[in-house]
Amino acid sequence: MTTIGTPLSPNATRVMLLGSGELGKEVIIALQRLGVETIAVDRYDNAPGQQVAHHARTVVMSDPALLRELIEEEKPDLVVPEIEAIATPMLEVLEATGLVRVIPTARAARLTMDREGIRRLAAETLGLPTSPYRFCDSLAELQAAIHDGIGYPCIVKPVMSSSGKGQSKLERPADVQPAWDHAMAGGRVSHGRVIVEGFIDFDYEITLLTVRAKGADGQIETHFCEPVGHVQVQGDYVESWQPHPMHPAALAKAQQIAKTVTGNLGIELDGQASGLGIFGVELFVKGDQVWFSEVSPRPHDTGLVTLTTQWQSEFELHARAILGLPVNTALRNPGASAVIYGDIDATGIVFDGVDEALRVPGTDIRLFGKPESFVKRRMGVALAAHANMEQARVNAKLAASKVKPRVA
Ligand SMILES: Nc1ncnc2c1ncn2[C@@H]1O[C@H](COP(=O)(O)OP(=O)(O)OP(=O)(O)O)[C@@H](O)[C@H]1O
Ligand SMILES: [Mg+2]
Repeated sequence: MTTIGTPLSPNATRVMLLGSGELGKEVIIALQRLGVETIAVDRYDNAPGQQVAHHARTVVMSDPALLRELIEEEKPDLVVPEIEAIATPMLEVLEATGLVRVIPTARAARLTMDREGIRRLAAETLGLPTSPYRFCDSLAELQAAIHDGIGYPCIVKPVMSSSGKGQSKLERPADVQPAWDHAMAGGRVSHGRVIVEGFIDFDYEITLLTVRAKGADGQIETHFCEPVGHVQVQGDYVESWQPHPMHPAALAKAQQIAKTVTGNLGIELDGQASGLGIFGVELFVKGDQVWFSEVSPRPHDTGLVTLTTQWQSEFELHARAILGLPVNTALRNPGASAVIYGDIDATGIVFDGVDEALRVPGTDIRLFGKPESFVKRRMGVALAAHANMEQARVNAKLAASKVKPRVA
């Protein structure tokens, strides 16, 4: 049985978000609606989620001592990582001592924070199909890995990076040195290690939002949302839609892969099944062949579209699942999302044309409220619902294009 307390009272149910960007903000809003007391943590002040939480803390979460201090002070019932750059070994320690429960598990947060942990788990331990890959610690090793097997085209990525940072596609030997340099400059921490992956010439890629939630008998059940299709530009999502039509055989394989990997990530260090919440399983599809790419043990950026397509958005699903509540992953109507970029480098910008955007039929908008804009920073998203998917995509992009960021 799930019991929820009263916020700001001694019996409050307290949930801490580690990372409070646009995805965390929506999770916090969903938790607030369920009467949960929320603590939003980020590395800078006035992060989107901090603006809607009961408590805001600004802390360097990659520092184990600071992370420990934060959790000991706030004593949340649940810790919900929203970003990868967290001192996850410390979360494992705190979870093991019973001080806190980490969503889905501290082990999952550690394994997915760098590409090596999750890739070796998926390909080597679980035997899931992935692109061919090698890990390299120097330019010479990278050259050898490509020469001895990976071949061209291939993709080089820092092991610790997200949103396409430091990533390059290589077509020929002359591309290797620039790719290595780009990876060294783009990694999250100075960690001279890259993954080189054979290029998969997929027909399309999807995010399969997968939810582990408690059933009526207390057992953990796995639920799938309809596949989310998306377009990535330089490793960053610009557009997504749901449902993405799939051949039944490909969908069955995708669900099997997602169930296997999320099931394993749901196992705690002590071997206990746990691991509630939503996962964004990224898959490449060609015909009825499916490859696992990576997984986020949290809501996924391409899943912002579910704010307009599902009865319960990925954020509501996450909030419900982590509290042990039942979920409904059903689609309500087809729809699409299109990213609104900052287009300028400035703080405290203004957005013109929101009215124009919302005049596009069936649209909605989220402006995340980020204090600082960068040209390629995601500042908002336009959403469009439409029975016809192509029209939904057109409308989402049209609405996004009407929003014009500028210096105040
Ligand atoms: N081996 C591959 N073959 C073909 N395309 C690839 C491959 N690896 C990555 N890509 C393309 O690059 C995109 C970003 O790659 P990946 O998801 O590994 O990076 P990321 O930095 O974690 O991105 P994000 O944080 O946005 O998910 C993929 O969604 C896909 O479009
Ligand atoms: Mg990705």
